[in-house]
Amino acid sequence: MMTSFSPQAVSHPGLPPRHFLDIADIEAGALRRMVNLAALYRTGNAPEALRRPLAGKTLAMIFEKPSTRTRVSFQVGMQQLGGDVVVLSHQDTQLGRGETIPDASRVLSRFVDILMIRTFAPETLHELADYASVPVINGLTDETHPCQVMADIATFEQHRGEIEGKVIGWTGDGNNVAQSWIEAAPKFGFEIRLACPEGLEPNAGIVAAARKAGASVIIGRDARELLDGVDCVITDTWLSMHDTDTDRSNMLLPYQVNADLMGYAKPNALFMHCLPAHRNEEVTDEVMDGPQSVVWDEAENRLHAQKAIMVWCMGKIS
Ligand code: CP
Ligand code: NVA
Repeated sequence: MMTSFSPQAVSHPGLPPRHFLDIADIEAGALRRMVNLAALYRTGNAPEALRRPLAGKTLAMIFEKPSTRTRVSFQVGMQQLGGDVVVLSHQDTQLGRGETIPDASRVLSRFVDILMIRTFAPETLHELADYASVPVINGLTDETHPCQVMADIATFEQHRGEIEGKVIGWTGDGNNVAQSWIEAAPKFGFEIRLACPEGLEPNAGIVAAARKAGASVIIGRDARELLDGVDCVITDTWLSMHDTDTDRSNMLLPYQVNADLMGYAKPNALFMHCLPAHRNEEVTDEVMDGPQSVVWDEAENRLHAQKAIMVWCMGKIS
């Protein structure tokens, strides 16, 4: 689990930019080094050469959806690394008046050194990356939320040691966060079990790819059965930002994380939620505020994990 970071930059002149689009696209060793570096940032033990390696660099963030954690943690993280930040909301830029993503991507690449986008369709993220000459980071799409899951894995390891060989349980909507967890399973070597109601299962292609890459991905309807003996229980909101339904409470109430459901997991199982939570919908106050919950550490680890991601994107670690 220990990783040493060589002080010299791993520069790759002439090579395409190192994007952080989806966990499935990135080599397992690089993901492991990012999670290990996140832990060093958290404990204040990062090597001197990686403390402020992005001095003089600028990150631009494009938001097509609201955000608290992603926005603040990227901004503070980039500042801690020595860099600057520009925040762009879609409607305040020419993107909101129809400038195309390829044109905006080429222009922004002339001004800044890293781009982050929170958007709807994954195609928008990929189009931005295809036309960018600087690294692009996925700050959430309708399909995935990889920065969140890197922080979640760092949080699990902060409390329980290496995640390899552990069993992660998800209950509720098989959404963007769940799908990045599935993509992480073969990369980090854990099993994932998801309890989802009919119609809210994760994308079959993402599940098939993770299984093909060697992961145990178990999907079913019965949350109690699936969470039996897991090392971590995770859930998320009943309605994501891109969802158009107005009410899923009947479907999702049986998947609520309450003391009864937590009782099926291991006695020392962690509870995680990417936040924002809708208290007493997908999770009760007693679990959110209870001794197994690590949601505030999880939020903090967004900062540390994204610093490691930006450092990797800029070629400062391999
Ligand atoms: N978890 C997360 O991405 O939070 P925000 O929507 O506040 O960025
Ligand atoms: N699944 C949620 C995550 C929010 C951080 C959403 O997409 O709204």
